Amino acid sequence: MTVPDSAIVARLRAAGCVFAEDEARLLMSAARNPAELDAMVSQRAAGLPLEQVVGWAEFCGLRIIVAPGVFVPRRRTEFLVRQAALLLRGERSPPDPPCSWGDPSPQTPLGPPRKGIARPGSVIVDLCCGAGAIGAALAAAVDRSEVHAADIDPAAVRCARQNLPGGHVYQGDLYAPLPAGLRGRVAILAANVPYVPSEQIGYLPPEARAHEPRAALDGGPDGLDLLRRVVAGAAGWLAPGGHLLSEISEHQARLAESVVTAGGLAARVARSPELDATVIIGQRPS
Ligand SMILES: C[S@@+](CC[C@H](N)C(=O)[O-])C[C@H]1O[C@@H](n2cnc3c(N)ncnc32)[C@H](O)[C@@H]1O
Repeated sequence: MTVPDSAIVARLRAAGCVFAEDEARLLMSAARNPAELDAMVSQRAAGLPLEQVVGWAEFCGLRIIVAPGVFVPRRRTEFLVRQAALLLRGERSPPDPPCSWGDPSPQTPLGPPRKGIARPGSVIVDLCCGAGAIGAALAAAVDRSEVHAADIDPAAVRCARQNLPGGHVYQGDLYAPLPAGLRGRVAILAANVPYVPSEQIGYLPPEARAHEPRAALDGGPDGLDLLRRVVAGAAGWLAPGGHLLSEISEHQARLAESVVTAGGLAARVARSPELDATVIIGQRPS
């Protein structure tokens, strides 16, 4: 293992990086030369998220390319991927406790979901895909799936195209750029939409506030504006029995359930206390 340079550690620590030694090690392994290393350390010390500095984030055991200004995939979102992978295999998460694969601490990622066979030709849509982490993880976890992804942000779409080489990536507002031929065929509609209530944006860590687009975070007055728009169109795109999955915060669960039910889907909530992850799941009746 690389021994972190003490001067770099000191610079990072002075800038407020709690895991300065680990970060120094990562930056030293990512930089191709001393000048690049110096530039990376400066960027990190200035507050750029580590993932945007090194250019990738680890997600479900994959390296997801992340450019500056693009939302950094969060580890808690691996829980949504797990739920989707279970559903694609025709399984359902055990009701209680909601997270039963291992006993991860908040620092421990869930890792890649178990590989399995989805129903042939399963169509997966990663809506509001950002860098495409969810679509890439599901494509890796589920054989023979057909992955489509879309985001409104051109920088995110550029990353998603690199992270989903076998998928179809579109730019535009929610469902607008999707091919009409997907209507009524989608088995999994993963929509990790922005869900932070507008007035809470100011309490997010500075890394997120300063270096991730507001449109990637702000979900409107109660955080559920985008979810409402997604739900309004979901039944038209989902196959009979298909599922919509969206990450929310725990205190939004009741309201999100009522939003999903009002959209004509059967709603339930899955929760991983270990990852502090909550997912609203809606199913189109079959
Ligand atoms: C919370 S981020 C999630 C990104 C990605 N799904 C992930 O989990 O890493 C929300 C994403 O929604 C996108 N977004 C916001 N409003 C949108 C809209 N109206 N249509 C499509 N994408 C949108 C943002 O650009 C951002 O990439």
